[in-house]
Amino acid sequence: MIRNTVTDAILSRQTIRAYKREQISEEMLETLMQAAKAAPSGRNMQPCYVRFVQDADMLHEMHIDFKNLVGWDTPAYTRSDTNPFYHNAPMFVFIYAANDSAMDAGIMTENICIAAEGMGLGTCIVGSAGALFNDESGKKWNEKLHVPRDFRYQIGVCVGYPDETPPRKPRFDDRIEVIR
Ligand SMILES: Cc1cc2nc3c(=O)[nH]c(=O)nc-3n(C[C@H](O)[C@H](O)[C@H](O)COP(=O)(O)O)c2cc1C
Repeated sequence: MIRNTVTDAILSRQTIRAYKREQISEEMLETLMQAAKAAPSGRNMQPCYVRFVQDADMLHEMHIDFKNLVGWDTPAYTRSDTNPFYHNAPMFVFIYAANDSAMDAGIMTENICIAAEGMGLGTCIVGSAGALFNDESGKKWNEKLHVPRDFRYQIGVCVGYPDETPPRKPRFDDRIEVIR
């Protein structure tokens, strides 16, 4: 097994759902933006619109809208029943694309996660926030985030300094095979 900074970052990344309040540095932000931009895309169409949101009030308001939409009793996607969708991270990255470019959005997402891991930051990929962008409140948020019409929230990423060390989740051993 070859270990280097890249494989270490890939192997050590795990989902973080508790963050310190401290914001990431401008240099880290710039690095994450470059990592997002560097992501490969089908036919190099670069179909994603990405918004790095560090406005805590805006994220909180989105959380309220989201809960009003899906219901306050709806269990959270994860163990963190009381957490908002952005897990109180100091930054949330919204990745938008047309629906036929969801794959490109996913690939960009992992670029962001691995780059963040390499800088000692934690991340959590968030699909569940999509409901927020489906109705009238979706229109409002798309406008506030300057997202062109017909682009849909595909996926998001919480980013910040980790405030937990969760146990590593086991992986299936029988799903990857070498055929020679
Ligand atoms: C496409 C996708 C959507 C996800 N959506 C959410 C989500 O909405 N909320 C959340 O807390 N975690 C979400 N996760 C995180 C997964 O639960 C997590 O990656 C998985 O349990 C494996 O754990 P690990 O990342 O620590 O290896 C999502 C992950 C992926 C890849």
